[in-house]
Amino acid sequence: MKFYSKVIIPFFYDFSMDSEHINEGRKSILNKVKEEKVLEIGFGTAINLKFYPNNVNHIIGIDSNEGMLKQAEKKISDDRIKVEIIHQSSETLPFDDNSIEAVVSTYTLCSIKNVNLALNEIFRVLKPNGRYYFLEHGLADKPLTQKLQHLLNPIQKVWAVGCNLNRDIKALIENSGLKIIELKNYYMKRDPEVVGFMYEGIAVKEVKSYD
Ligand SMILES: C[S@@+](CC[C@H](N)C(=O)[O-])C[C@H]1O[C@@H](n2cnc3c(N)ncnc32)[C@H](O)[C@@H]1O
Repeated sequence: MKFYSKVIIPFFYDFSMDSEHINEGRKSILNKVKEEKVLEIGFGTAINLKFYPNNVNHIIGIDSNEGMLKQAEKKISDDRIKVEIIHQSSETLPFDDNSIEAVVSTYTLCSIKNVNLALNEIFRVLKPNGRYYFLEHGLADKPLTQKLQHLLNPIQKVWAVGCNLNRDIKALIENSGLKIIELKNYYMKRDPEVVGFMYEGIAVKEVKSYD
């Protein structure tokens, strides 16, 4: 299983996930990043790197699978963006409270084992008013598709290395304390509905005023 997740999946990953229709969503959300420095969790094979806008000049990419990060390293040649890679789970982020301006995740909340912990960590490390940009697949809005998602989830988790089909991304983000300020839900055109219900948006760590 280790060989499958650390060698086979990383090697073939870009063939399925660096495709035109998937990249539409990547471009759409990453174009909105207005900060200079970004923490990307679930950095994977660095597919997003080419889609960051010009204002982004520093990315910290964190991922728990070193096989994915080895593939990512091959793409880090762009002088425009400084890229630091950290091999670690995002369930514990190695950063101080209130220290990060922006966090990005794409197709990652489905795979993190303790996703609540990871989202709490995003909340903790974000600066006040810091933004979390997300593009994630999850629980669909049609009851029949939801049923199928619940049914197929155990199989998906095995072959897709821990990927869950049925996570309610909106509820998970909101439970962490982050406030969603922008959200687009849609079905990916060419994908089966069970894997193609998307949550694309921005959440913010709101500053609470007590006066
Ligand atoms: C489906 S891939 C997405 C990769 C990339 N974000 C993309 O959009 O192509 C999910 C990624 O999340 C990573 N991942 C899973 N659990 C993680 C964790 N606890 N901490 C950090 N990364 C994790 C996996 O290793 C994998 O690279």
